[in-house]
Amino acid sequence: MWCGPGCWHGRSFAATSASSTWAAAAGPLLLLAAKHLSTGRAVGVDLWRSVDQSGNSIEATQRNAATEGVADRIDLHTGDMTALPFDDRSFDVVVSSLAVHNIGTPAGRDQAIAEAVRVLRPGGRLMLADIRATRRYQDRLAALGMLDVARRGLGWRFWWGGPGPPPIS
Ligand SMILES: C[S@@+](CC[C@H](N)C(=O)[O-])C[C@H]1O[C@@H](n2cnc3c(N)ncnc32)[C@H](O)[C@@H]1O
Repeated sequence: MWCGPGCWHGRSFAATSASSTWAAAAGPLLLLAAKHLSTGRAVGVDLWRSVDQSGNSIEATQRNAATEGVADRIDLHTGDMTALPFDDRSFDVVVSSLAVHNIGTPAGRDQAIAEAVRVLRPGGRLMLADIRATRRYQDRLAALGMLDVARRGLGWRFWWGGPGPPPIS
């Protein structure tokens, strides 16, 4: 789901849920974003919950960033995406990958979406990838004033756990 006008080559880039374990090839968006940055930082936030992803840790993500050659462009924070530790309007691009559904309540998921919008600069761009409830996310983003909210399937690159249908919502 993409919404809002703006540019990818932002000065600042936030990823809520930044975890990555190499075996799962997870956490790719933060590292991909870091590779695309011309200036600024790619900033990740995660609670590093192993119940959501095995081998989950800030150290694994740091190692992956080093392997990808972007360790000097990322900042990792331990934090909750329902209460992001950042100022309002501080990022040009915000992404969240397969993480909001891990919040246990609809109110919590709504709060995470509100936080993603809060830290986005006017004119910035937000991408939220998830496996369910994305119609609700779309409605929440529109209610929060985001423009050009679009929704589409995630495609085969988001397959995990073996063959099967791609995750859609
Ligand atoms: C299924 S993993 C996805 C990881 C990675 N973003 C990816 O695309 O592969 C879900 C991630 O969400 C994180 N998470 C769950 N609840 C969170 C919360 N309230 N705040 C921040 N991170 C959270 C977990 O620690 C875990 O790393």
